[in-house]
Amino acid sequence: MYKILKAEKLADMIYLMDVEAPRVARHCEPGQFVIVKMDEKGERIPLTICDYDREVGTITIVFQTVGASTHKMAELKAGDAFRDFTGPLGCPSEFVGEDIESLKNKKILFVAGGVGAAPVYPQVKWMKEHGIDVDVIVGSKTKDMLILESEMRAVAGNYYPCTDDGTYGHAGMVTTKIEKLAEEGNKYDVCVAIGPMIMMKFVCLLTKKLNIPTIVSMNPIMVDGTGMCGACRLHIGDEIKFACVDGPEFDGHLVNFDEAMKRQQMYKTEEGRAMLKLQE
Ligand code: FES
Repeated sequence: MYKILKAEKLADMIYLMDVEAPRVARHCEPGQFVIVKMDEKGERIPLTICDYDREVGTITIVFQTVGASTHKMAELKAGDAFRDFTGPLGCPSEFVGEDIESLKNKKILFVAGGVGAAPVYPQVKWMKEHGIDVDVIVGSKTKDMLILESEMRAVAGNYYPCTDDGTYGHAGMVTTKIEKLAEEGNKYDVCVAIGPMIMMKFVCLLTKKLNIPTIVSMNPIMVDGTGMCGACRLHIGDEIKFACVDGPEFDGHLVNFDEAMKRQQMYKTEEGRAMLKLQE
């Protein structure tokens, strides 16, 4: 059993938990994910790792309630436990194996949307720990929906919040903030964008125009996280990849987002899942 040490509501429908999982905490790297199961018969839920403390042996997860299982999960309190907490799974972020000196010479932009701030946070923290200052744009619908602000401010070089309704920070989408930063003369060598599929699609369309290589995380389309269900099958250029096994991070300029979004929609219903099974 994996004990929950802290359970907190961050915003409407968004929850944070610290879970005792020393083995996962010892081995995980930014970009990886875990699969949690509440009980024997529970659904397997893949969640990206938001933070880890190797000494204390904890993993921080952040999740949004989207279906029955995550609603049930949101009711868990400190002291409760998960039946399974499997990980770390998936490939670490590309930069984890890169030469630190060459990373220091790059100008890096992170773009997070909504709950995507959770998987972006450990990457920005990793950069900070290695002496690399990066720019971070975090978008949310409203000020109240903005999560992990103080944590992100503590590790980002520059932090730019954006809200769709203009209640805080830059008023408008993250893409308009990227355009603004580019107009102001910022020349980024690489962009990492994580958030809703539609946001990643439009960030990629823009960064292609601006000539900024872009990495995206396709964790939103994962269902069971095992390579078995087929939900996360993607076209990356001419190749077929599975987000949970080959990713979750990919070259955003090669991802077929329209296909991925269609697949994500279909997996939301029983009938859609049955139809996709027939096609496979
Ligand atoms: Fe099921 Fe990847 S999430 S195959």
